Amino acid sequence: MKNILAPSILSADFKILGEQLKLTEEAGAEYIHFDVMDGMFVPSISFGMPVLASIKGATTQTLDVHLMVTEPIRYVEEFVKAGADIVTVHYEACEDLQATIDKIHAAGAKVGISIKPKTPVDVLLPYLDQAEMFLIMSVEPGFGGQAFIPESLERISELRNLLNEKGLTTDIEVDGGIYHKNVAEVLAAGANVMVSGSGVFKGDIKDNTAKFMEILNGN
Ligand code: DX5
Ligand code: ZN
Repeated sequence: MKNILAPSILSADFKILGEQLKLTEEAGAEYIHFDVMDGMFVPSISFGMPVLASIKGATTQTLDVHLMVTEPIRYVEEFVKAGADIVTVHYEACEDLQATIDKIHAAGAKVGISIKPKTPVDVLLPYLDQAEMFLIMSVEPGFGGQAFIPESLERISELRNLLNEKGLTTDIEVDGGIYHKNVAEVLAAGANVMVSGSGVFKGDIKDNTAKFMEILNGN
């Protein structure tokens, strides 16, 4: 498993988004994390397909789309068409998670399954071999800039152990409150894909990204 940084553009400056993406790409961030919020599954509203489509033309980074949307199955095909490489849906938001997983795969994208901080990790058991990535939320989804919930570390280890027992090396992504100061412990707990919004886009984007990459590459 490769350690990857996924800058969350929720904290970017949208009037110069293309330039900011370039800075993260040049400094080694392989993914761009794209947070879609519908005002129902989470209180806030962010952005959708047209924004994703224009990002697709502005970077070669993997587009990691996090759908914080009720019944995301309704939008899977449109997000894949707009450029999503990975489509992550919430366990809590899907009436038929199996059908949602199948639809994402059929559309040609990788599947991510996410759980909120209070959802037990073992709800994922029936799906362990069906996703390319699991996303453990380390804050309540909905807003950038919140503090990392410390219990998330145990949840990451629990999931990594469950995957190991099945001989799976699936990616574990973690999202919310990740900064230079705590990314090493998130990595040590067993995650390998780190989302960071404020930690990348607040301050010097290139330096912030490079410092994350040093830690993720073990330097
Ligand atoms: C929260 C979003 C996150 C958010 C993370 O609901 O899913 O991706 O952008 O932001 P930070 O890194 O600032 O906590
Ligand atoms: Zn996210």
